[in-house]
Amino acid sequence: MENIIGMKRTHRCAELTVKDAGKEVVLMGWVQKRRDLGALIFVTLRDRSGIMQVVFNSETDPALHEKASQVRSEYVLAVRGTLALRSPEAVNKNMPTGELEVIAKELRILNKSEVPPFHIEEDSGANEALRLKFRYLDLRRPDLQRNLILRHRVAKIARDYYDENGFLEIETPVLTKSTPEGARDYLVPSRVHPGKFYALPQSPQLFKQLLMVSGYDRYMQITKCFRDEDLRADRQPEFTQIDLEMSFVDREDVMEVNEGFIRRLFKEIHNIDLPTPIPRLTYNEAMTRFGSDKPDTRFGLELVNVSDIVEESGFKVFSDAVKNGGSVRAINAKGAGAKFSRKEIDALGEVVKTYKAKGLAWIVVEENGLKSSFAKFLTEDEINALLKRLEAEKGDLLLFVADKDEVVFDALGHLRLELGEKLNLIDHDRYDVLWVTDFPLLERDEEENRWVAKHHPFTSPMDEDIEYLDTDPARVRAKAYDLIINGYEVGGGSIRIHSRELQNKLFNVIGFTDEQAKERFGFLLEAFNYGTPPHGGLAFGLDRLVMLLAKTDNIRDVIAFPKVQNASDLMTNAPDYVEDKQLEELSIKLVTKSEQ
Ligand code: AMO
Ligand code: AMP
Repeated sequence: MENIIGMKRTHRCAELTVKDAGKEVVLMGWVQKRRDLGALIFVTLRDRSGIMQVVFNSETDPALHEKASQVRSEYVLAVRGTLALRSPEAVNKNMPTGELEVIAKELRILNKSEVPPFHIEEDSGANEALRLKFRYLDLRRPDLQRNLILRHRVAKIARDYYDENGFLEIETPVLTKSTPEGARDYLVPSRVHPGKFYALPQSPQLFKQLLMVSGYDRYMQITKCFRDEDLRADRQPEFTQIDLEMSFVDREDVMEVNEGFIRRLFKEIHNIDLPTPIPRLTYNEAMTRFGSDKPDTRFGLELVNVSDIVEESGFKVFSDAVKNGGSVRAINAKGAGAKFSRKEIDALGEVVKTYKAKGLAWIVVEENGLKSSFAKFLTEDEINALLKRLEAEKGDLLLFVADKDEVVFDALGHLRLELGEKLNLIDHDRYDVLWVTDFPLLERDEEENRWVAKHHPFTSPMDEDIEYLDTDPARVRAKAYDLIINGYEVGGGSIRIHSRELQNKLFNVIGFTDEQAKERFGFLLEAFNYGTPPHGGLAFGLDRLVMLLAKTDNIRDVIAFPKVQNASDLMTNAPDYVEDKQLEELSIKLVTKSEQ
């Protein structure tokens, strides 16, 4: 192996432009590919900026050519040479440096490499589990490098923006007590306090509120959060928030500052001017129109309530649902009747069943009449009213779900997304950014038979709804807001309760006794006795933001060392067993050692 003594890198590969032609340059990087064309050897050299072609010519320098013939994929090289313009027929338009090449004068092989387990290239088709096991090689791929550079830029813009707006970055502890975000905690045993555990924070929620009590006024932090919950494509057990909190503000102030950040982000990253103000939907409108509190508004297929039309109909599935306090709602999948086979329609029925709907009733509007799974139970007037309400035309497919509202929204909301993809209605180059506001403060936990906070128990009710806390909790709306992009929740927050009495009241409504509240959040409640300013805040999911800006739908593509579905890290093999001695020190005895 050779060393780099006396050689100093002058540029990164793809930082060179046509203007640099003629310069002597020194590049260092990895071999993407070597092509041997007899007298000429072409090596594409890669570093984090991109790739550059290097040429070795046996006629001008046979020894150098011979040395170049020994290099293999992923060898580490240092190359000194002259940057030259390629001849017109050799220009590669698909490559940013495709008009350039380096005519090599010196080559040092700084290190060798084994043959990598997969070919390192853009859009790798290699199996993801294999790529994650060798993540350090996967991270050499240009698409992942671009994603991580983008992630750096997003974090930098966040720090700059919030700094310019008077926010202080303050760190909060990682070894702490349970925070109430609704997921399970990751626990860390304490050696010096046998039997006691720290909890890793699900968010810095309690600490950022305490910082407001302390008078810091505007806080921000880019920080790791930990949640032991079921993973999905847009979730990780440890993820990063851009977290912030402000004092002496109401809802509009928090939304305005954060709109400014999102607007700056889209301008700087994609040169997109988002509308001012960013559109808003209330929770109720989002649910009734899109069946979701994080609607993807890039396409139509909105839900239509037909309960009043079918309430008295002879189709018991429909009439019973309405009579039992539920509803019947429908989607007109425009043109899908002419496109989908019976088998495909049945498959849609399976989709809604995964969201607890009991079935999917349908009508296909054909050239001469209707085909339907249930029309025979309806009168002609009822059918005509349905067709009219749904603005049905020839070739349309009308899809109905009858159930309690919660199920109808969930089933049709997900069906809508499936149809949007299937019918190719989604413009993947578009960004729809919107706020959803006026969430319900509480929701019913059927299992535990009690009310729980929908956001978290520090969220303030709307002033005009406080009076219903005892009599009609379902009616109480929260001063909460979520930021939605293309159907993903990228951020959420609220104005907090800052009165000790109201906070106690809320704990009572969600079934905490005074003792329980004191035990879990005593320090916060106590702090509320010492002059708490009105305050509120929000947290963005950094990973999700970057995922959307990078136009990928896999959160792992924007995290350097992510975890897989079962929360393990395929590279380090974490989580793993530990030595008995360590357990002993921690006063921990395992009941079972499951073989996984
Ligand atoms: P919330 O729980 O809504 O609010 O989280 C804020 C944002 O964090 C992101 N997020 C996640 N991203 C990846 N993986 C996960 N498992 C995950 N969970 C959440 C989402 C979400 O919008 N303390 C409050 C904020 C506040 O009230 O100020 C909180 O944590 O993008
Ligand atoms: P059945 O008479 O039970 O065969 O149902 C007739 C049609 O209604 C079938 O297409 C079922 O999938 C559909 N269906 C059953 N339950 C529901 C429901 N709750 N909502 C919508 N459609 C349903």
